[in-house]
Formats: sequence, C-alpha cells, structure tokens
Amino acid sequence: MGADGKVIFSDISQPLLDVCTEIATSLGTLGQCEFLRAEATDLSQIPDDSLDAVTTRSVLIYVKEKQRAFQEFFRVLKKGGRVSMFEPIAKTEREFVDRRYYLGYDVLPIKDLMQKIYDRYKNEKDAQSTMGDFDERDLVKMLTQAGFGFVHLELDVTVGNAGMIGGEGRWEVFYNSAPNPLVPTLRTEVESALSPAEQERFIAHLKPLVEQNIGRTAQCLAYVTAVKEDWGKLYSG
Ligand SMILES: C[S@@+](CC[C@H](N)C(=O)[O-])C[C@H]1O[C@@H](n2cnc3c(N)ncnc32)[C@H](O)[C@@H]1O
Repeated sequence: MGADGKVIFSDISQPLLDVCTEIATSLGTLGQCEFLRAEATDLSQIPDDSLDAVTTRSVLIYVKEKQRAFQEFFRVLKKGGRVSMFEPIAKTEREFVDRRYYLGYDVLPIKDLMQKIYDRYKNEKDAQSTMGDFDERDLVKMLTQAGFGFVHLELDVTVGNAGMIGGEGRWEVFYNSAPNPLVPTLRTEVESALSPAEQERFIAHLKPLVEQNIGRTAQCLAYVTAVKEDWGKLYSG
C-alpha cells in the first residue's frame, strides 16, 4: 500500500475483520486501514468513484446476487480503477470429473450410503448453490454488464488424483474436514445420516482410498481483471 496508500477491509464477518485489525496493528499500518462490515452487494458506506482498486479472493462464491456485487464494485471505483479477483469455479470442475467421485474419491460401490447422506443434507447442499451456479464465462458477462469496459479472464485447470483434497493421505484430517464453510465435516454428515453398521461400511470403503491417495479431482480457478475504463481519457488523445 506504500507510505500513503489506504486500504478498506470489507467483509460480512466481524471475526475476519478483527483478525485483519490484529495483523494491521502488528505491521504498524493500522493508521492506513479502515474496516467495514458489509455485504459485497451493499457497499453504500463507500462513496461513488472513490477507490483505485477492488480485490477479492474466494468471496463471490458465497454471494447469491453476484451481479449486484459487481455493480457495487463498479460504482465505488474511480474511472480507470480496476477489479482483480480470484474464484474457484465448481461448475466447470464438474465437467471434468464424473459424478461417481465424491470429494475426489470413487463412491460408486457405496452409492446407497451416499444417497442417504445426500438426502439428509439436501438443504445444506442446496445452500451451496452460490458456489455452483456460475462459471468463468458468467463472471466475464456479469462484469461486462456491470459496465466494465475491459475484462480479462485466465482459467487455470488441473485434473488429477485426489491429493489436492485436504489431508494428504491422512484419513483423520480428511474425515474431520469440511470441503467449504457452508457444509458440515464429513464425519458429521456420516454420523448423522448412517447407522453404526453403515458408517463402518462407509469407512471401510473410503479410508483405504484416502490413505493411498487413489482418486480423481478437477480444480478450476478463475483469475479475472476488469477496468472501469476512462473513455474520456482514451479518446481525448
Ligand atoms: C473463503 S473466505 C476468503 C477470505 C479471504 N478473502 C482470503 O482469501 O483468505 C470467504 C470470505 O468471504 C466472506 N463473505 C461471505 N459472504 C459474503 C458476502 N455476502 N459479502 C461479503 N463477504 C462475504 C466471508 O466472511 C469470508 O471472509
């Protein structure tokens, strides 16, 4: 941020803002920081045309009204200001990995148990739709519709074994982790949806796959830059 730069940390979570405050304090930069508890879709506490840059990482995946968030980003940016963002793209990932894989592992042999877990957690999985209801092209379209004159997308795709899904072969870590903050841990899902005998069968199937790292995942990451073009500047020569 340089010696005179100013940063507004904006998030809906107060604990997240508290951590940012602690870090800024320890870095001696608190005087250059502001903290704003706000929805990405309502930045009304920030004036129009006031910021040089807006940057987000893995935030839009939690926002239902993404178009409104982009409109807010456009509004608060000065002419010539830019957005730089990173989002994982679950919808595109699903194009590369068969539905028989769950969290990277083949669950076809225990699909009856998976169905029970799915039925028990259907509502929570639906809540995740903010993550699965868009792809990288939608980001470009929404930014363009918000008014950004320049939009650049880079998509980073990796398809491979399950190593990248938490735990690195450590069953206990994998079993006690949640793939994202909107859903319970795998252990909670299994223990609340299955009988003790079914839990045993579930673990007997999945644990060796995790420990030997036999699986398949896709990771699709979108890096997007957008500029609120200053047309006056562009055409005035
Ligand atoms: C996966 S974390 C990413 C945190 C941070 N950007 C990073 O990259 O380490 C997602 C963040 O989005 C915030 N968030 C979720 N929904 C939001 C919303 N509607 N408006 C603003 N922030 C939101 C959460 O509070 C959380 O801090």
